[in-house]
Amino acid sequence: MAGNSLILGETPSSASSLPPKSMGCVKELVESSTLTSIPSHYIFSTNLDQQVSTEEIPVIDFSLLTSGTPDQRSKIVQQLGKACQDWGFFMVINHGVPESLREEMLKACQRFFDLTEEEKREYMGKHVLDPIRCGTSFNVSVDKVFFWRDYLKVFVHPEFHSPGKPSDFSKRTREVAMELLKGISESLGLEENYIDTAMKLEKGFQILVGNLYPPCPEPKLAMGLPPHSDHGLLTLLIENDICGLQLQHKGKWVQVKSLPNSFLVNTADHLEILSNGKYKSVLHRAIVNGKASRISLAMAHGPSLDTVVSPAPKLLNSEINPPAYTGMKYRDYLELQQLNVLGEKTSLDRVRVQ
Ligand code: OGA
Ligand code: NI
Repeated sequence: MAGNSLILGETPSSASSLPPKSMGCVKELVESSTLTSIPSHYIFSTNLDQQVSTEEIPVIDFSLLTSGTPDQRSKIVQQLGKACQDWGFFMVINHGVPESLREEMLKACQRFFDLTEEEKREYMGKHVLDPIRCGTSFNVSVDKVFFWRDYLKVFVHPEFHSPGKPSDFSKRTREVAMELLKGISESLGLEENYIDTAMKLEKGFQILVGNLYPPCPEPKLAMGLPPHSDHGLLTLLIENDICGLQLQHKGKWVQVKSLPNSFLVNTADHLEILSNGKYKSVLHRAIVNGKASRISLAMAHGPSLDTVVSPAPKLLNSEINPPAYTGMKYRDYLELQQLNVLGEKTSLDRVRVQ
């Protein structure tokens, strides 16, 4: 199919069997008629009109981490640690990834969503560990309420599974994530390369998730993505010029407004496990709006799929800080998270020591 290669690279090696029915994407729903209300299975809550805080979130100047003086670096490492501990969320500026690459990626993502259902069909309804997969909501076979969101998920590391040559964007983003993880490692009092080595990041699992949130006629009733935490170590996210990401901070939802050309970074479940709960994965959600399509691109960086992740021994102490999580292989964790209903931190609860 000619349309596929335009997106993120090469044509996938194997075409899968066709899923039985229409994908039921939100985009097609919105474009097929003039909707004035949403179908009832999209009603998430009738109470989404809550107060949202606009508190400033921490900003990390990446250039000081990589080319600052030792003194500047140690200050940034401290700031990173504080951001991870107090927020689980921060914005990264001066990361050196060209704006043109990010624009290209957002456009490529838009082009994918613009394919017809017929064209997208070959990537639908696949297993969660299939390297290219698209769909709607989160997991339509278990979702009771559908989310106002279509997605494309592509595995980009250790093997690159999509269009053409490995995209520079995922490679450059990965480099930023690896540097941040070094700083985070240090901020925990571990060796700079501890996370890299223990999580086998050379073969680390990186997945790119493109999210499309079409305009919604009743944005106060529908949810783009419900409150959840991410499965990996760190997620780096970019968006088009429409906001919609909110994170939970001290019991309140905080609206995120990204600075130009920044990465929005959140700590995920495996950093919580590795740090034995010092750096908690942050709950976040995506809300929708009535006016414009929002596109976001999340790059989740995790351990290698065969790594059994447990708290770093150096952080443990049998009396005051015993292990709070049991080890689980990342691949198993990923399947668990992807096959179940998305919400809160239900996957993490399965490995928490009671
Ligand atoms: C995600 C996610 C938020 C957003 O893809 O895991 O949380 O703003 N996305 O799209
Ligand atoms: Ni998320």
